[in-house]
Amino acid sequence: MKPNLKPERPQFSSGPCVKRPGWTPSVLAEAALGRSHRASPAKERLAEVIERCRTLLALPASHLIGIVPASDTGAVEMALWSLLGARGVDILAWESFGHGWVTDVVKQLRLEDVRVLVADYGEISDLAAVDFARDVVFCWNGTTSGVRVPGGAWIADDRLGLTIVDATSAAFAMALPWDKIDVATFSWQKALGGEAQHGMLVLGPRAVERLESYQPAWPLPKLFRMTKGGKLNRDIFAGATVNTPSLLATEDMLDALRWAEAVGGGPALVRRTEDNYRALARWVEATSWIDFLAREPAVRSTTSICLKLVAPWFLALSESEQRAVTKAIADRLAAEDVAYDINGYRDAPPGLRVWCGATVDAEDVARLGPWLDWAYAEVEARRRTAA
Ligand SMILES: Cc1ncc(COP(=O)(O)O)c(C=O)c1O
Repeated sequence: MKPNLKPERPQFSSGPCVKRPGWTPSVLAEAALGRSHRASPAKERLAEVIERCRTLLALPASHLIGIVPASDTGAVEMALWSLLGARGVDILAWESFGHGWVTDVVKQLRLEDVRVLVADYGEISDLAAVDFARDVVFCWNGTTSGVRVPGGAWIADDRLGLTIVDATSAAFAMALPWDKIDVATFSWQKALGGEAQHGMLVLGPRAVERLESYQPAWPLPKLFRMTKGGKLNRDIFAGATVNTPSLLATEDMLDALRWAEAVGGGPALVRRTEDNYRALARWVEATSWIDFLAREPAVRSTTSICLKLVAPWFLALSESEQRAVTKAIADRLAAEDVAYDINGYRDAPPGLRVWCGATVDAEDVARLGPWLDWAYAEVEARRRTAA
Protein backbone atom coordinates (compact mmCIF):
# COMPACT_ATOMS: atom_id res chain seq x y z
CA MET A 1 0.00 0.00 0.00
CA LYS A 2 1.23 3.43 -0.91
CA PRO A 3 1.71 5.54 2.23
CA ASN A 4 -0.41 8.68 2.21
CA LEU A 5 1.93 11.12 3.95
CA LYS A 6 4.85 12.39 1.89
CA PRO A 7 7.85 14.25 3.28
CA GLU A 8 7.09 17.95 2.85
CA ARG A 9 10.53 18.50 1.38
CA PRO A 10 11.82 15.60 -0.72
CA GLN A 11 15.40 16.95 -0.96
CA PHE A 12 17.59 14.33 0.73
CA SER A 13 20.66 14.89 -1.48
CA SER A 14 24.07 14.75 0.18
CA GLY A 15 25.13 17.92 -1.59
CA PRO A 16 23.94 20.39 -2.55
CA CYS A 17 21.83 19.78 0.55
CA VAL A 18 18.32 20.99 1.22
CA LYS A 19 17.89 24.64 2.11
CA ARG A 20 16.80 25.59 5.60
CA PRO A 21 13.12 25.16 6.44
CA GLY A 22 11.14 28.19 5.27
CA TRP A 23 13.73 29.32 2.70
CA THR A 24 12.40 31.33 -0.25
CA PRO A 25 14.29 33.29 -2.92
CA SER A 26 13.14 36.48 -1.16
CA VAL A 27 15.96 35.99 1.38
CA LEU A 28 18.28 37.19 -1.38
CA ALA A 29 16.54 40.53 -1.80
CA GLU A 30 19.17 42.55 0.08
CA ALA A 31 22.20 41.00 -1.68
CA ALA A 32 24.91 43.49 -2.64
CA LEU A 33 24.43 42.69 -6.32
CA GLY A 34 26.36 44.62 -8.91
CA ARG A 35 28.74 45.91 -6.26
CA SER A 36 32.47 45.31 -6.12
CA HIS A 37 33.32 42.59 -3.64
CA ARG A 38 36.01 44.95 -2.34
CA ALA A 39 33.47 47.71 -1.57
CA SER A 40 32.20 47.94 1.98
CA PRO A 41 28.62 46.60 1.53
CA ALA A 42 30.00 43.39 0.02
CA LYS A 43 33.09 43.13 2.20
CA GLU A 44 31.03 43.59 5.33
CA ARG A 45 28.80 40.70 4.30
CA LEU A 46 31.78 38.45 3.57
CA ALA A 47 33.21 39.35 6.98
CA GLU A 48 29.82 38.65 8.55
CA VAL A 49 29.80 35.16 7.02
CA ILE A 50 33.21 34.57 8.59
CA GLU A 51 32.19 35.87 12.01
CA ARG A 52 28.90 33.98 12.07
CA CYS A 53 30.67 30.75 11.06
CA ARG A 54 33.19 31.35 13.83
CA THR A 55 30.43 31.66 16.42
CA LEU A 56 28.39 28.69 15.20
CA LEU A 57 31.43 26.43 15.01
CA ALA A 58 32.66 27.61 18.44
CA LEU A 59 36.01 28.31 16.81
CA PRO A 60 38.65 29.48 19.31
CA ALA A 61 40.37 32.83 18.77
CA SER A 62 43.56 30.90 17.96
CA HIS A 63 42.05 29.65 14.66
CA LEU A 64 41.59 31.76 11.53
CA ILE A 65 38.73 31.15 9.10
CA GLY A 66 38.42 32.46 5.56
CA ILE A 67 36.42 32.12 2.36
CA VAL A 68 38.28 30.47 -0.53
CA PRO A 69 37.47 29.52 -4.12
CA ALA A 70 36.17 26.24 -5.54
CA SER A 71 34.15 24.88 -2.68
CA ASP A 72 35.48 22.22 -0.35
CA THR A 73 37.74 20.77 -3.04
CA GLY A 74 39.37 24.18 -3.47
CA ALA A 75 39.89 24.54 0.26
CA VAL A 76 41.38 21.04 0.67
CA GLU A 77 43.71 21.41 -2.31
CA MET A 78 44.80 24.87 -1.19
CA ALA A 79 45.81 23.30 2.11
CA LEU A 80 47.51 20.23 0.59
CA TRP A 81 49.48 22.23 -1.97
CA SER A 82 50.50 24.92 0.54
CA LEU A 83 51.35 22.81 3.57
CA LEU A 84 52.50 19.33 2.60
CA GLY A 85 56.05 18.27 1.88
CA ALA A 86 57.65 19.46 5.11
CA ARG A 87 57.16 16.05 6.77
CA GLY A 88 56.02 12.55 5.91
CA VAL A 89 52.28 12.19 5.44
CA ASP A 90 49.75 9.67 6.75
CA ILE A 91 46.61 9.83 4.70
CA LEU A 92 43.43 7.97 5.59
CA ALA A 93 41.05 6.73 2.93
CA TRP A 94 37.93 4.72 3.58
CA GLU A 95 35.69 6.06 0.82
CA SER A 96 35.71 8.05 -2.39
CA PHE A 97 36.73 11.52 -1.20
CA GLY A 98 39.57 10.24 0.96
CA HIS A 99 40.85 8.30 -2.06
CA GLY A 100 40.64 11.52 -4.08
CA TRP A 101 43.02 13.23 -1.63
CA VAL A 102 45.37 10.23 -1.90
CA THR A 103 45.50 10.79 -5.66
CA ASP A 104 46.36 14.45 -5.08
CA VAL A 105 49.16 13.66 -2.68
CA VAL A 106 50.64 10.61 -4.39
CA LYS A 107 50.06 11.19 -8.10
CA GLN A 108 49.96 14.98 -8.40
CA LEU A 109 52.20 16.30 -5.63
CA ARG A 110 54.22 13.07 -5.94
CA LEU A 111 55.29 13.09 -2.33
CA GLU A 112 57.49 10.14 -1.58
CA ASP A 113 57.12 9.63 2.14
CA VAL A 114 53.42 8.82 2.20
CA ARG A 115 51.61 6.07 4.08
CA VAL A 116 48.07 5.42 2.87
CA LEU A 117 45.83 3.86 5.51
CA VAL A 118 42.99 2.30 3.57
CA ALA A 119 39.77 0.66 4.73
CA ASP A 120 36.86 -0.80 2.82
CA TYR A 121 33.52 0.94 2.45
CA GLY A 122 31.66 0.59 5.74
CA GLU A 123 34.87 0.38 7.77
CA ILE A 124 37.34 2.99 9.00
CA SER A 125 41.13 3.11 8.63
CA ASP A 126 43.19 1.81 11.56
CA LEU A 127 43.33 4.97 13.65
CA ALA A 128 45.78 3.42 16.12
CA ALA A 129 48.30 3.10 13.26
CA VAL A 130 48.43 6.85 12.62
CA ASP A 131 51.80 8.44 13.35
CA PHE A 132 51.32 12.00 14.58
CA ALA A 133 54.96 12.83 14.02
CA ARG A 134 53.77 13.07 10.42
CA ASP A 135 51.12 15.25 8.78
CA VAL A 136 47.77 13.49 8.81
CA VAL A 137 45.08 14.01 6.17
CA PHE A 138 41.55 12.61 6.54
CA CYS A 139 37.85 13.25 6.11
CA TRP A 140 36.01 13.76 9.39
CA ASN A 141 32.94 12.27 7.76
CA GLY A 142 33.19 10.09 4.69
CA THR A 143 30.15 11.24 2.77
CA THR A 144 30.06 8.31 0.36
CA SER A 145 30.23 5.49 2.92
CA GLY A 146 28.50 7.07 5.91
CA VAL A 147 31.52 6.41 8.11
CA ARG A 148 32.99 9.13 10.34
CA VAL A 149 35.79 9.26 12.86
CA PRO A 150 34.67 8.47 16.42
CA GLY A 151 35.41 11.96 17.81
CA GLY A 152 38.93 13.27 18.32
CA ALA A 153 40.32 11.27 21.27
CA TRP A 154 42.58 9.28 18.91
CA ILE A 155 44.37 12.47 17.77
CA ALA A 156 47.57 13.18 19.73
CA ASP A 157 47.69 16.42 21.72
CA ASP A 158 51.47 16.51 21.40
CA ARG A 159 51.51 15.87 17.65
CA LEU A 160 54.42 17.18 15.62
CA GLY A 161 52.68 17.02 12.25
CA LEU A 162 49.52 18.85 11.22
CA THR A 163 46.02 17.38 11.12
CA ILE A 164 44.39 18.42 7.85
CA VAL A 165 40.71 17.62 8.01
CA ASP A 166 38.14 17.60 5.23
CA ALA A 167 35.14 18.41 7.42
CA THR A 168 32.65 19.32 4.73
CA SER A 169 29.94 16.86 5.72
CA ALA A 170 30.66 17.27 9.43
CA ALA A 171 30.84 21.04 10.00
CA PHE A 172 27.62 22.45 11.50
CA ALA A 173 26.36 18.92 12.17
CA MET A 174 28.92 17.31 14.48
CA ALA A 175 30.98 18.82 17.30
CA LEU A 176 34.55 19.40 16.09
CA PRO A 177 37.37 19.44 18.72
CA TRP A 178 39.39 22.40 17.48
CA ASP A 179 42.37 21.66 19.71
CA LYS A 180 42.87 18.50 17.61
CA ILE A 181 42.44 20.18 14.24
CA ASP A 182 45.17 22.27 12.60
CA VAL A 183 43.39 22.71 9.28
CA ALA A 184 39.72 22.18 8.44
CA THR A 185 37.75 22.72 5.28
CA PHE A 186 34.10 22.75 4.29
CA SER A 187 31.80 24.18 1.65
CA TRP A 188 28.66 26.30 1.84
CA GLN A 189 26.52 23.77 0.01
CA LYS A 190 26.51 21.07 2.67
CA ALA A 191 25.11 21.12 6.20
CA LEU A 192 23.62 24.61 6.03
CA GLY A 193 22.13 24.19 2.56
CA GLY A 194 24.05 27.12 1.05
CA GLU A 195 25.25 27.40 -2.54
CA ALA A 196 28.21 25.59 -4.07
CA GLN A 197 31.60 26.92 -5.22
CA HIS A 198 32.56 28.70 -2.02
CA GLY A 199 34.85 26.91 0.38
CA MET A 200 35.99 27.74 3.88
CA LEU A 201 39.43 27.14 5.28
CA VAL A 202 40.21 27.04 9.00
CA LEU A 203 43.84 27.43 10.04
CA GLY A 204 45.10 26.77 13.54
CA PRO A 205 48.29 28.42 14.85
CA ARG A 206 50.51 25.47 13.90
CA ALA A 207 49.29 25.61 10.31
CA VAL A 208 50.04 29.33 10.18
CA GLU A 209 53.49 28.65 11.58
CA ARG A 210 54.06 26.06 8.81
CA LEU A 211 52.91 28.47 6.12
CA GLU A 212 55.28 31.16 7.35
CA SER A 213 58.29 28.89 7.76
CA TYR A 214 58.06 26.45 4.85
CA GLN A 215 57.90 26.92 1.13
CA PRO A 216 56.80 23.97 -1.02
CA ALA A 217 59.07 22.86 -3.85
CA TRP A 218 56.28 23.07 -6.45
CA PRO A 219 54.66 26.10 -8.06
CA LEU A 220 51.46 27.43 -6.46
CA PRO A 221 48.70 28.84 -8.65
CA LYS A 222 47.37 32.21 -7.57
CA LEU A 223 44.17 30.54 -6.32
CA PHE A 224 46.17 28.57 -3.74
CA ARG A 225 48.50 31.31 -2.55
CA MET A 226 47.98 32.28 1.07
CA THR A 227 51.27 34.02 1.79
CA LYS A 228 52.87 37.26 0.67
CA GLY A 229 56.59 37.75 1.21
CA GLY A 230 56.69 34.72 3.51
CA LYS A 231 53.87 36.02 5.74
CA LEU A 232 50.30 34.80 5.85
CA ASN A 233 47.93 37.07 3.94
CA ARG A 234 45.55 37.67 6.84
CA ASP A 235 43.18 39.72 4.68
CA ILE A 236 41.80 36.43 3.29
CA PHE A 237 40.58 35.65 6.80
CA ALA A 238 38.81 38.98 7.13
CA GLY A 239 36.70 38.79 3.97
CA ALA A 240 39.14 39.88 1.26
CA THR A 241 38.78 36.87 -1.02
CA VAL A 242 41.50 35.69 -3.43
CA ASN A 243 39.20 36.25 -6.40
CA THR A 244 35.63 37.38 -6.96
CA PRO A 245 32.97 35.58 -4.90
CA SER A 246 29.26 35.37 -5.70
CA LEU A 247 27.44 37.99 -3.67
CA LEU A 248 24.19 36.14 -4.28
CA ALA A 249 25.65 33.00 -2.72
CA THR A 250 27.08 35.14 0.09
CA GLU A 251 23.64 36.56 0.91
CA ASP A 252 22.21 33.05 0.84
CA MET A 253 24.89 31.80 3.24
CA LEU A 254 24.14 34.69 5.58
CA ASP A 255 20.49 33.69 5.59
CA ALA A 256 21.47 30.11 6.44
CA LEU A 257 23.75 31.28 9.24
CA ARG A 258 21.08 33.59 10.70
CA TRP A 259 18.58 30.73 10.61
CA ALA A 260 21.09 28.48 12.36
CA GLU A 261 21.49 31.01 15.13
CA ALA A 262 17.74 31.52 15.42
CA VAL A 263 17.14 27.79 15.98
CA GLY A 264 19.69 27.72 18.79
CA GLY A 265 23.18 27.85 17.27
CA GLY A 266 25.79 25.11 16.93
CA PRO A 267 24.42 22.74 19.62
CA ALA A 268 20.93 22.96 18.09
CA LEU A 269 22.31 22.07 14.65
CA VAL A 270 23.97 18.97 16.10
CA ARG A 271 20.75 18.11 17.94
CA ARG A 272 18.62 18.49 14.81
CA THR A 273 21.05 16.27 12.90
CA GLU A 274 21.00 13.59 15.60
CA ASP A 275 17.18 13.69 15.75
CA ASN A 276 17.11 13.11 12.00
CA TYR A 277 19.59 10.27 12.30
CA ARG A 278 17.49 8.65 15.02
CA ALA A 279 14.33 8.99 12.94
CA LEU A 280 16.00 7.04 10.13
CA ALA A 281 17.74 4.59 12.49
CA ARG A 282 14.38 3.63 14.03
CA TRP A 283 13.18 2.60 10.59
CA VAL A 284 16.43 0.78 9.72
CA GLU A 285 16.28 -1.19 12.96
CA ALA A 286 12.67 -2.20 12.33
CA THR A 287 13.27 -3.20 8.69
CA SER A 288 14.64 -6.58 7.69
CA TRP A 289 15.77 -5.74 4.14
CA ILE A 290 18.07 -2.83 5.00
CA ASP A 291 21.08 -2.15 7.22
CA PHE A 292 23.69 0.55 7.76
CA LEU A 293 26.74 0.29 5.52
CA ALA A 294 28.83 1.41 8.53
CA ARG A 295 29.15 -1.70 10.63
CA GLU A 296 30.23 -0.14 13.91
CA PRO A 297 27.74 2.28 15.51
CA ALA A 298 30.66 4.32 16.93
CA VAL A 299 31.71 5.40 13.43
CA ARG A 300 28.26 5.79 11.90
CA SER A 301 27.66 9.13 10.24
CA THR A 302 24.70 11.18 11.41
CA THR A 303 24.65 13.26 8.21
CA SER A 304 25.29 11.14 5.12
CA ILE A 305 23.58 7.94 6.12
CA CYS A 306 24.50 5.11 3.79
CA LEU A 307 22.38 2.00 3.73
CA LYS A 308 22.88 -1.43 2.20
CA LEU A 309 20.22 -3.89 1.09
CA VAL A 310 20.57 -7.20 2.88
CA ALA A 311 17.69 -9.34 1.57
CA PRO A 312 19.02 -12.72 0.30
CA TRP A 313 17.48 -12.29 -3.19
CA PHE A 314 19.29 -8.94 -3.55
CA LEU A 315 22.62 -10.30 -2.29
CA ALA A 316 22.38 -13.09 -4.90
CA LEU A 317 22.43 -10.53 -7.75
CA SER A 318 25.47 -9.32 -9.66
CA GLU A 319 26.75 -5.84 -8.79
CA SER A 320 25.26 -4.30 -11.93
CA GLU A 321 21.89 -5.90 -11.16
CA GLN A 322 22.11 -4.62 -7.62
CA ARG A 323 22.80 -1.12 -8.93
CA ALA A 324 19.76 -1.40 -11.18
CA VAL A 325 17.63 -2.26 -8.12
CA THR A 326 18.81 0.63 -5.96
CA LYS A 327 18.39 2.99 -8.91
CA ALA A 328 14.87 1.72 -9.49
CA ILE A 329 13.98 2.33 -5.82
CA ALA A 330 15.48 5.83 -5.91
CA ASP A 331 13.81 6.63 -9.24
CA ARG A 332 10.39 5.52 -7.99
CA LEU A 333 10.64 7.75 -4.95
CA ALA A 334 11.82 10.68 -7.04
CA ALA A 335 8.91 10.16 -9.45
CA GLU A 336 6.55 10.33 -6.47
CA ASP A 337 8.28 13.53 -5.25
CA VAL A 338 8.98 11.70 -2.01
CA ALA A 339 12.80 11.61 -2.08
CA TYR A 340 15.29 12.99 -4.56
CA ASP A 341 18.89 11.87 -5.05
CA ILE A 342 19.00 8.99 -2.58
CA ASN A 343 20.73 6.40 -4.74
CA GLY A 344 24.17 5.57 -3.29
CA TYR A 345 27.29 7.31 -4.58
CA ARG A 346 28.65 5.96 -7.86
CA ASP A 347 31.92 4.66 -6.35
CA ALA A 348 30.26 3.17 -3.26
CA PRO A 349 28.82 -0.35 -3.04
CA PRO A 350 25.22 -0.45 -4.34
CA GLY A 351 22.89 1.06 -1.74
CA LEU A 352 20.91 4.12 -0.71
CA ARG A 353 22.07 7.34 0.92
CA VAL A 354 19.93 9.78 2.86
CA TRP A 355 21.22 13.16 4.02
CA CYS A 356 20.12 13.91 7.56
CA GLY A 357 21.88 17.21 8.32
CA ALA A 358 20.33 20.05 10.27
CA THR A 359 18.36 21.64 7.43
CA VAL A 360 16.33 18.41 7.08
CA ASP A 361 13.23 18.03 9.29
CA ALA A 362 12.92 14.88 11.44
CA GLU A 363 9.25 14.56 10.52
CA ASP A 364 10.24 14.29 6.85
CA VAL A 365 12.77 11.57 7.65
CA ALA A 366 10.14 9.68 9.64
CA ARG A 367 7.76 9.88 6.68
CA LEU A 368 10.40 8.52 4.33
CA GLY A 369 10.64 5.06 5.96
CA PRO A 370 7.22 3.71 4.86
CA TRP A 371 7.88 5.04 1.35
CA LEU A 372 11.18 3.18 1.19
CA ASP A 373 9.32 0.01 2.17
CA TRP A 374 6.76 0.70 -0.53
CA ALA A 375 9.31 1.35 -3.29
CA TYR A 376 11.33 -1.70 -2.29
CA ALA A 377 8.24 -3.93 -2.36
CA GLU A 378 7.27 -2.56 -5.78
CA VAL A 379 10.71 -3.16 -7.26
CA GLU A 380 10.98 -6.63 -5.74
CA ALA A 381 7.51 -7.61 -7.02
CA ARG A 382 8.35 -6.38 -10.51
CA ARG A 383 11.52 -8.47 -10.55
CA ARG A 384 9.58 -11.51 -9.37
CA THR A 385 7.00 -11.20 -12.13
CA ALA A 386 9.72 -10.61 -14.72
CA ALA A 387 11.60 -13.76 -13.59
C1 LIG B 1 33.99 14.55 2.14
C2 LIG B 1 33.85 15.38 0.92
N1 LIG B 1 34.95 16.01 0.43
C3 LIG B 1 34.87 16.78 -0.66
C4 LIG B 1 33.71 16.98 -1.34
C5 LIG B 1 33.68 17.84 -2.55
O1 LIG B 1 33.00 19.00 -2.21
P1 LIG B 1 32.80 20.20 -3.22
O2 LIG B 1 32.04 19.64 -4.37
O3 LIG B 1 32.02 21.17 -2.39
O4 LIG B 1 34.13 20.68 -3.60
C6 LIG B 1 32.53 16.36 -0.87
C7 LIG B 1 31.27 16.54 -1.59
O5 LIG B 1 30.30 15.88 -1.35
C8 LIG B 1 32.62 15.56 0.28
O6 LIG B 1 31.53 14.97 0.76
